[in-house]
This record gives sequence, structure tokens and C-alpha cells, in this order.
Amino acid sequence: MARLRRSLQGRVAVVTASTDGIGFSIAQRLAVDGAHVVVSSRKQKNVDTAVEKLKTEGLSVSGVVCHVGKKEDRERLIGNTVAEFGGFDILISNAAVNPDPGRIMNCTEAVWDKIFNVNVKSSFFLAKEAIPHMEKRGKASVIFVSSLMGYIPNYAKDVLGAYALSKTALLGLTKLMALELGPRGVRVNCICPGLIETRFGEAITKDERAIKFMKHNCPLQRNGQPEEMAGLASFLASDDSSYITGENIVAAGGLQSAL
Ligand SMILES: NC(=O)c1ccc[n+]([C@@H]2O[C@H](COP(=O)([O-])OP(=O)(O)OC[C@H]3O[C@@H](n4cnc5c(N)ncnc54)[C@H](OP(=O)(O)O)[C@@H]3O)[C@@H](O)[C@H]2O)c1
Repeated sequence: MARLRRSLQGRVAVVTASTDGIGFSIAQRLAVDGAHVVVSSRKQKNVDTAVEKLKTEGLSVSGVVCHVGKKEDRERLIGNTVAEFGGFDILISNAAVNPDPGRIMNCTEAVWDKIFNVNVKSSFFLAKEAIPHMEKRGKASVIFVSSLMGYIPNYAKDVLGAYALSKTALLGLTKLMALELGPRGVRVNCICPGLIETRFGEAITKDERAIKFMKHNCPLQRNGQPEEMAGLASFLASDDSSYITGENIVAAGGLQSAL
């Protein structure tokens, strides 16, 4: 008879930007599936609230403040986790910003730097800094969070110009890192959400034009919910995906993705 098991039992996961939205749902799901999850975001108050909420659900979680754009914060996130657990198995790099939504040709150098610093540079360096502490445990899974817009940066060009382009960079980063890290037993994959109802997404999800667009163009005819990204993250973190690496997986209700 098959034995019941929790797919992430005994694993330790670090999830950035996990006090709200997609990151919070992923943290919750990984913990439900048996992992100890280190929750993090920029604000101590948000970290405390998220940790408290998950603990009241009986989940194994702890919290560390981390602005992913700050090297010293990334070092603390990794250092505290390694000090407590000796290493970790799962890294979900979920933080991103879009500080001044607009067209690419209106993007200033300061906005460009902010977007690429948080969304791309920090994702890469957090993973690079984390991998030595992950690979020795033998089950290392790195998961980036890009976007459907990474495939189609021209789609929402009026608001997501440089942000979408930063998400395109993550698609390539996933391929490149998977190639280099495969021989070391480290898997690298990426989730590309469509339109998801979160604080970050609400400028679009609540826009009448977007609602109409989704009704007519999205095969599932609706926006996604943060919880609908969580199962995919848990799958990519688990042994169920042990032969999958270098993949950018779109979860967008059927909206077409093509570069
Ligand atoms: N929502 C969508 O439609 C959608 C679609 C495609 C892709 N995505 C991607 O999904 C990811 C999560 O987005 P979301 O919609 O879930 O956002 P959200 O609901 O607005 O949550 C944002 C989270 O990020 C934290 N955060 C913000 N800046 C941070 C930083 N520099 N360092 C660390 N934490 C930071 C926030 O907490 P603090 O304020 O405490 O830092 C909060 O926990 C992003 O990568 C986004 O690009 C979202």
C-alpha cells in the first residue's frame, strides 16, 4: 500500500518577499508540504505578522528581514539560516519592483538601475551566494519568479516597459544557471505568473480594460490567485521534479507566451 508522505519533509526553504502576495502563498504551501520556511521581506513588522500568522496555522517558520537589493541583508538572510540549520535546500527568489510604471522610452537611468538591481542583479547574487550552502545537502532547488510579461514585454508596454524586460532577463538567467549548475546537482527553474490578484498586481487587475481583456482573451477567463502559484513552486522544489531543470514555466490561465 502507498504510504502517505509530505513532499518537502526535512527540507529548509528560504523565500524572499514572502510576507504578502505570491511569496506568502508559496511560503505557506512549502511549510504545509513539510519544509521549514524562512520568511523574509524589507519590513520587520511585515515579517513578524507573516510569521505569526503561519505559526498559528501550526507551520514551521521563522523570519529574517531582507531587502534583496542590499548585500548585507542577503548575507544576514543566508547567514542566519545556515547558523540555524547548517544549510538549506530551496531558494525561492521572488522579490521584484516596478517603481515608476511606464514605457521603456520614458525610463530614467535611476528607475532602470532600481529595477535591474532588485529584479535581476539581486536574484542572481542571492542565488550565487546561497548555492554553496545548498548544494552540499544534495537536493538544491533554486526557483526564480519571472512573469508572463518576460515572454511578451511588448504586451503591456504602457506600464511594464523596463520591468517586463527585467523579467525577460530572468528567463535567460534560468537557462544559463541550470546549464552550469546541473553537473553540481543543483536545479534551477523559474515560474512565470500571468495576472495575479495581489497588491503589486492591482494597478492592472482592477483596470476595466484589463478585466475586459482577460474575459475575452484568457482561456480561463479570469485573473489568477497567489495560491495558484504555490503548488507549482512546491512541485519544483520537490523530488517530483527531480529531472526538471532550466525550465521557465508559465502559469497564466492559458494566455499565450512566446518570445
Ligand atoms: N501579481 C502579478 O500579477 C504578478 C505577475 C507576474 C509576476 N509577478 C511577480 O511575482 C512576484 C511577487 O509579486 P506579488 O504580486 O506577489 O507582490 P506583492 O503582493 O505586492 O508582495 C510584495 C512582497 O514583496 C516584499 N518586497 C518588496 N520589495 C522587496 C525587496 N526589495 N526585498 C524584499 N522584499 C520586498 C513586500 O514586503 P515588504 O514591503 O515588507 O518588503 C511583500 O512581501 C514578483 O517577482 C512579481 O514581479 C507578479
